[in-house]
Amino acid sequence: MTKWAPNSWRNKPVRQVPDYPDKATLADVEARMATYPPLVFAGEARKLKKQLAAVAEGQAFLLQGGDCAESFAEHGADNIRDLFRVFLQMAVVLTFAASQPVVKVGRIAGQFAKPRSSDTETRDDVSLPSYRGDIINGIDFTDASRIPDPARQEMAYRQSAATLNLLRAFAQGGFANLENVHKWTMGFISNSPQGERYQALADRISESMEFMRAIGINADNHPSLRETDFYTSHEALLLGYEEALTRIDSTSGEWYATSGHMIWIGDRTRQPDHAHVEYCRGVKNPLGLKCGPSLEADELLRLIDALNPQNEAGRLTLIARFGAEKAADHLPKLVRAVEKEGRKVVWSCDPMHGNTVSLNGYKTRPFDRILQEVQTFFDVHRAEGTHPGGIHIEMTGNNVTECTGGAWAISAEDLHDRYHTHCDPRLNADQALELAFLVAELLKKDAAAHSDRKAAVG
Ligand code: PEP
Ligand code: CO
Repeated sequence: MTKWAPNSWRNKPVRQVPDYPDKATLADVEARMATYPPLVFAGEARKLKKQLAAVAEGQAFLLQGGDCAESFAEHGADNIRDLFRVFLQMAVVLTFAASQPVVKVGRIAGQFAKPRSSDTETRDDVSLPSYRGDIINGIDFTDASRIPDPARQEMAYRQSAATLNLLRAFAQGGFANLENVHKWTMGFISNSPQGERYQALADRISESMEFMRAIGINADNHPSLRETDFYTSHEALLLGYEEALTRIDSTSGEWYATSGHMIWIGDRTRQPDHAHVEYCRGVKNPLGLKCGPSLEADELLRLIDALNPQNEAGRLTLIARFGAEKAADHLPKLVRAVEKEGRKVVWSCDPMHGNTVSLNGYKTRPFDRILQEVQTFFDVHRAEGTHPGGIHIEMTGNNVTECTGGAWAISAEDLHDRYHTHCDPRLNADQALELAFLVAELLKKDAAAHSDRKAAVG
């Protein structure tokens, strides 16, 4: 393999990266950003890798989620707080069920750039370049707005810094204190079936906390009760931006992407000899790789060779996104190939991107298809004897109507009501919590099967 450098991707074929008309301004912006402070530290990325290694070994569960695309318009404290709250609620539900740590990774503080299936969008008789995320161009359907504008990269960087600042405060500053387990419920959830189920669980946790307090264990003397680790992730699509934020870590002397803790390669840009794989192979962060229906087992092994040549647990998360109908056909082949070659990976399930349909002119996802893909993911891993390591979802803390179904039975007619996404449809807080309860049931079953096996062996 040729020598890697932060810019070696520039010698490879590249897909989905826009052609900026104003090259001089682009070069200025990238040069300036290369001098900006890193958004995350290498030590944090290493800590996440260690936690993901525990997931790879079947000792923990990965919860990854957030917006399909962050936007400049929706940037604000309330949205960040509400997403963080649902995350904490889901994590509590999952931890309680699985008796395992839950590794929390947001699609946030950098999740701006979007791959598109078509280069153009047509409305009536007008065709314009597709919207590619706020870091690249604007969503308004006008000529001017759709021109890739380098200045947007600096706006995305600053928004990511502000978002990360608040997330760090929430994670470490008391909001995540387990003594607040009742306060994480959003108003609109509190009287839904999921809300009631959550309150019942929160009561049990509070009771355990009271018991522990009585014997001297409390949030003051046990930081793990009052703080949590929350990591950031995004698709490393806009490689010029990534390159500008690639830095050598002074402790290890190794290269890290400092745009987020974990970065992933999308399903449309995972060609082994192309630019995105080239960039990602050289940085030491934990990586994700989206695995869609067109990925064959031999190509997956080639990609694993390129991205994780040392076979380091926690380095690579394979994110399966086949669609509810296809998962049972595609996933077993890949799992078997990886197992046969002894490759250490985290298997995660993205039940969103293979289940998008069009209804009443809206892009949506039926909740039952999402649940079905998660169920199949667990079934396959149970049959193969491997660990269903995590889920990767598009969600928001808001009460949106973007995916159909769920406890409130959102219908095709309801979609227009609160359809706010800049890209793909997200689970609302209630649907996200419902999914967490389902996954909790599946994890509980797995844990029980495990201890039965152990007992039989012992
Ligand atoms: C995404 O995660 O928003 C995405 C575009 O996914 P995929 O690459 O799996 O299509
Ligand atoms: Co998406």
